[in-house]
Amino acid sequence: MDAFDDIRDLLRRDHELALSELDALRYGDPAESRARLQKLRRAWVVHALAEETVVYRALEGVAASVSSERADERFVEHDLVDGLFQKMERGRPGSIEWNAQLHIVRDLIARHIETEHEETFDKLAQRYDNAGLCVLGSQFRLTRKKLAMLEEAKSPIRVSPEMPTSPVPPYPAATPRRPAGNPPAAMR
Ligand SMILES: [Fe+2]
Ligand SMILES: [Fe+2]
Repeated sequence: MDAFDDIRDLLRRDHELALSELDALRYGDPAESRARLQKLRRAWVVHALAEETVVYRALEGVAASVSSERADERFVEHDLVDGLFQKMERGRPGSIEWNAQLHIVRDLIARHIETEHEETFDKLAQRYDNAGLCVLGSQFRLTRKKLAMLEEAKSPIRVSPEMPTSPVPPYPAATPRRPAGNPPAAMR
């Protein structure tokens, strides 16, 4: 386990990759857009599911009522993005409608990521110390890998190891464990 296992670093890297892939869709060769979009969508779903399973659940109970609502919004945004990706997969890359959908999905993802970096990362730092953040990182990495393997069993499409592939898989939600000997800061 090292500093690169910190859950925030893993999430940040996935987020940066998603944004750069969106830019590649916008400025890249339209002939490659369909395959690129398919990979991006699958990577997004794996990321979102692993995040919900490990990160959002680890923070359940931390939030007050207002931020609980905002946590619910994160789930909804994951689904909204996937819905837009599905529409784009059925559309024609480079068309006016497709480009409009790409613009909207990029805005949505950028805002979603910004909120996670500001609010979710802040809550993680409040609840977990460095060792706890690395345990969460390991759990996230493992969950993401399992999800990607399930999807790869169904599909030959592969993307980079940092953002594996997938449509929504039938993966059971794990119960995140608080790192041993590492109670929330508020309980210390
Ligand atoms: Fe995320
Ligand atoms: Fe997210």
